[in-house]
Order: sequence, then C-alpha cells, then structure tokens
Amino acid sequence: MPLPVPALPEGVDPAWLPPDAFRAVGTRRTLIRGSGLLVDSAHAEVAEACARFGGRVVRDAGPGAPPYDLVLELRGTDGTEAFTYVREGGRTTVTASGQAGLLYGLFHVVRLGEDAFTGERPQEEHRPALALRMLDHWDNVAVHPVMGQVERGYAGGSLFWQDGRARGDLERVRAYGRLLAACGINAVAVNNVNVHDTEAHLLTDRIGEVAAIAGALRPYGIRTHLSVSFAAPMVLGGLPTADPLDASVRAWWAGATARVYEDIEDFGGYVVKADSEGQPGPFAYGRSHADGANLLAAALEPYGGTVHWRAFVYDHRQDWRDRTTDRARAAYDHFVPLDGEFASNAVLQVKHGPMDFQVREPVSPLIGAMPRTRLAVEVQASQEYTGQQRHVCWLGPMWSEVLRFRVDGETEVGSLARGGLVAVSNAGDDPFWTGHPLAQANLYTFGRLAWRPDADPDGVLDEWIRLTFGTGPATGLRAVLDGSWRTYEKYTAPLGVGFMVQPGHHYGPSVDGYEYSPWGTYHFADRDGVGVDRSAATGTGFAAQYAKPWCEVYESPDTCPDEQLLFFHHVSYDHVLHSGKTVIQHIYDTHFEGVEEVEEAREVWVSLAGVIDPARHARGVERYEEQLRSAREWRDQINSYFFRKSGVPDAQGRRIY
Ligand code: GCU
Repeated sequence: MPLPVPALPEGVDPAWLPPDAFRAVGTRRTLIRGSGLLVDSAHAEVAEACARFGGRVVRDAGPGAPPYDLVLELRGTDGTEAFTYVREGGRTTVTASGQAGLLYGLFHVVRLGEDAFTGERPQEEHRPALALRMLDHWDNVAVHPVMGQVERGYAGGSLFWQDGRARGDLERVRAYGRLLAACGINAVAVNNVNVHDTEAHLLTDRIGEVAAIAGALRPYGIRTHLSVSFAAPMVLGGLPTADPLDASVRAWWAGATARVYEDIEDFGGYVVKADSEGQPGPFAYGRSHADGANLLAAALEPYGGTVHWRAFVYDHRQDWRDRTTDRARAAYDHFVPLDGEFASNAVLQVKHGPMDFQVREPVSPLIGAMPRTRLAVEVQASQEYTGQQRHVCWLGPMWSEVLRFRVDGETEVGSLARGGLVAVSNAGDDPFWTGHPLAQANLYTFGRLAWRPDADPDGVLDEWIRLTFGTGPATGLRAVLDGSWRTYEKYTAPLGVGFMVQPGHHYGPSVDGYEYSPWGTYHFADRDGVGVDRSAATGTGFAAQYAKPWCEVYESPDTCPDEQLLFFHHVSYDHVLHSGKTVIQHIYDTHFEGVEEVEEAREVWVSLAGVIDPARHARGVERYEEQLRSAREWRDQINSYFFRKSGVPDAQGRRIY
C-alpha cells in the first residue's frame, strides 16, 4: 500500500496544494499503470482526491476495464522527468518513461484543473529545460549565536533540524517535498553553506540524520545534497592538512563519500563554499579552485554525484580607501582562467549578479565566459536584501530578466545554466512556510522558471494565484504582486547602486552603513555625485568583463540603462537620465512613488478581507503595516541624505528632512 499523502500539521498553510486544487482530478475516474515509489506517490495523490470528491482510481487494470477520464501510464524505467500529455476522445492521458515524469504529469493535470478534462488537445511533450532545480537551505543544526538557526532565514526555524538534531517527526518535511515537486524542484541541500562545527559532522557520524531527511523527500523525486567543509579531513578526519593534491586527503574524501552512499544511495552530492568570507579552501595550500572542486568530484564520481562549487569568492577584507579593488570583478577574475579545468561532475555555482542578491544588479559577466565549464546560476528566494519576507517583493520578473538576458546578444542565461538553477530557500517552519504568505509566490515561481527559464513569469504568477487562492481574489492579488519588485526598488537604493542597508542583519536603510567598511560595497556619494565608475576607460574595468554588446553598452553613461547607471558610473546629481529626469530628481520621485505604491497595495490587501483565508489575511495585514513603516523610513533617509549632500531641492517642493 502506498504511503498516504503527507498530512499537514494543524494550522499549517496548504500553500499551492489546497484540497480544492485536486477537485477536477478527484471527481474523475483515473487509471494508473506502472510501479515504483513515485508512482505510489501519484497514486496516493489521486486516491486522496477521489476520497474527498467522489471519483475513483484503479491501479493496473487489464483490458476490458471500464472507460477512464484520466490515464497515467509509466512506459519505462529510465529515470527521466519528461512526460507527454494528450486529450483525445474524451480522455486525458499522461505517459512517461520515468517515474518522476509521471508525477510531474499528474501535477500538470492538477494545475490545469477542469481544463484538463474539457475539449481536445493534441499531444504535447513536457520536459524540464534544466536537469537540476535545486534549493539550498542555509539551515544550521545548532542555533548560531549571531545568525540564528536559518542564516538569512525569515520564516522561523528550520524545517529539517530541531533541538540540535534532525526532526523525529518528518511529516512536514514530506509535505514540503510534495510542494516542491508540484512546482518542479528536484534537489535540496539541507544545511548552510557556512558549515559550522556541529554541521560538519553531518558528513560522517551524523549522516544517518541526513539519510532520514532524504528518505522523507525521496517519494516526491527530490534528491538530497549536503554542504560540506573543505577542511573536513582535518576537522573530522584528524589529518594535518586538507591539501587537495595530498594522497591521504583524497583517500579520506573517497572513504567518507563511500560511506555516505551506503546510507543514501541516491545522494545528490556536495555544496562547497570555499575561500569565501572566511570559509576554508584550497588557497591555503597554494592550489586552485579547480583542484579543490576536482578533489570532491573524484570522490563523488563513482556514484554519479555532483559537487556544486560556489563562485562567490572575493576579498571581504578590503580597504575602503583602495579604489582599484572591485568586488564586482572578483568571481570573473578568479574563475575564468580556470575554464576547462573542472571535472565533468563539478558544477560552478554562480550568483546571478556580480555582487550579492541586490534588488538590481547586472547579470554576472562570468555567465557565458566559461564555455567549457558546467555552470549553475544561483538566485535568492530568501529576501535578504529585498524586504526579508516582511515586504512583498515578488522576484519573478527579476529572475526572468536574468534568465532571458542574452549574454552575447544571442545566448540566453537560461540556456547556459547547464548545471542547473539554484535558489537559496525562503521556507522554514513558519505556519505559512515563508513568513509573508505572499512570499510563497517566490518559491513557486522559482520552481516553474527552473523547469522553463523562458516561461512568462506573469503566467506563472496567475497559476500560483489560482492554485493557492482560487479565482475570487485574483485581480487584487495580481495587483499587489505584479509590480512589487519595482516598487521595492523605488524606495530603496537607487539606480543599481545597491546596499545602503543596515550592516549585519541587512534590514532597513543605512546609506553609509557599509561605506567605510571592508566589504567592498560602496556608493561613493559626495556633494557632486554618486555611483561607482566601473568603466574600462576611467574606472575599475569591470564593464570590460562583458562580451559584446554589453561591454560597450555599459561602458558609457550615454548607453548604460538607467536602472544600472550607478552600478557602472559615477555621475553628477544633475546628470540627465534617458527618462529625461536628473539623477537627483529621479531619486526623489521614485522614493515618493514607492511609498505611495505600498500604500495602495496595502489598501488592496485590506479590501480582500473575507475573500481570502482569515489567517493568511491577518498575517498579510501585519506585514503590510511593517512594510509601509519601513518604506517611509527608506524614503525619508534616502531623500534626506541626497538632499543634504547635494543641496538640490525637490522640483515638486515635497517635504524632505
Ligand atoms: C551573503 C549573505 C551571507 C551568505 C553569503 C553567501 O553575503 O549575507 O549570509 O553566507 O551571502 O552566499 O555565502
């Protein structure tokens, strides 16, 4: 008998899989052909829906069986994720040659609702564009004294770890796996990229706990990965070195990895943050990052595992007086010379922008510059710099812009992410999963864009709204989510300059918070102007890391897009943008507008009382109060700062402090 569909603990939000989403399937007669763990999961889904809505499900009926409305048929065992979908002669048929494909096909039918059972539809092939669609959880097992349990987590504690160990009751982890499968995610890394002492042990003596989590996620086609410390041979193995070319180090990793696969046969592999923000790495031994990555790739290779090696390597102890060092350049400068040196099961995981998940950054020039290396692109669903899941900031349009960016004028980022698309997860043990109930849209959208990077994000948003809320409040929800990223951009750091956040926790404004710090995140505002000169002619040369046409477009303030202007150029406050406004007037106008837009969104949300679930609504009301307070604080600090620096009054005479 298949395991039942995971039960949500009392009070936990069903997110995009409320019972009603299964009404169309649950009122039909379904035949399921095939066997295996994931087919069992599909069966359990349909069985539960039928029990609720009065339909029927049969497994493996022979010829002569009564007619069915829906047939889910597994025609092979090749492990692929594709499926075909056809509607003919009043019957809907999903076929797949791998179990995961069958499960994804069922969720496709669920998304279509009644449309899956009306009219005729010629055969369609559905296959994920990217083989790896992954969430990295920055979860600690032990609560970290500064970062708490989930680093940059805004949704409560960890879904996986509690009281210093893996949860005994993994029912909610099963439910999480189900939600992820329903939007197309197939891999999860279960611990923070900053691997602290307790978490280092997950690799060895505590692998059983990871295996338990892997067991809970497996029925929904999700493979488990682990963040490991590059110093593990020393920390765990007692060796005097972690030198990647040392024979004893290589043997240690081979042995440790073999034991991991004894416990977790389908283990996905390792995630490594090395020589980055104080984490150990190969530089200590005079070795390259390719040497480091290949060490772990070799250990994983016999089992089909992958190492995800992060490219987030830069000098975090920079001198702010030094104008020649540019953090934005770092990943490209470190990694491009290594192109072609990485093993085939080593994936270089690159943040989508050259800095660090700001509301607006150009696409990292590393993407496209390493044709002989498998790259994964990393985005951040967890809204570290975009409102921390207290502000509504739907990131679909931003991610879509990144994925559809043509690095050389032709090739899209989405097609270059051969190693997959990865997001820092925004989920935790919060009853709404993501703090703000509307932040669920980011998680869902990420999964759908990872499946199809060129998908229209607005269509994905509509889909999420329909599944999660039904059709009633759709217009209002679209209104508050659609432009929320641009709204957030308006009231925070202007024109791509980034940061201006409170140091440490990164919430709320502090214009000079990082200006004289070692982190390499400066805006250089003075009485005359603002921005970072990253041109090749007079600046740090970062613009020259791009292929044509972008190196030319970004090189000059005349051609640089307005929204990136201060990322690439230092300009005077009276510089006139393509929009026709001066920089200073743009700053004032956008900050007033941003707050007005939050006020309007809040009104819309308030007006939805009675149309959406009261608990969700109440949480949203509370969050909107905070967003509005915070947006006003941003507006007033940014506007006052630039008014005081520049002395230029607002053309509209509005109040600036
Ligand atoms: C950011 C974030 C850190 C995180 C780091 C990373 O700098 O603030 O908490 O560890 O990114 O991506 O490794």
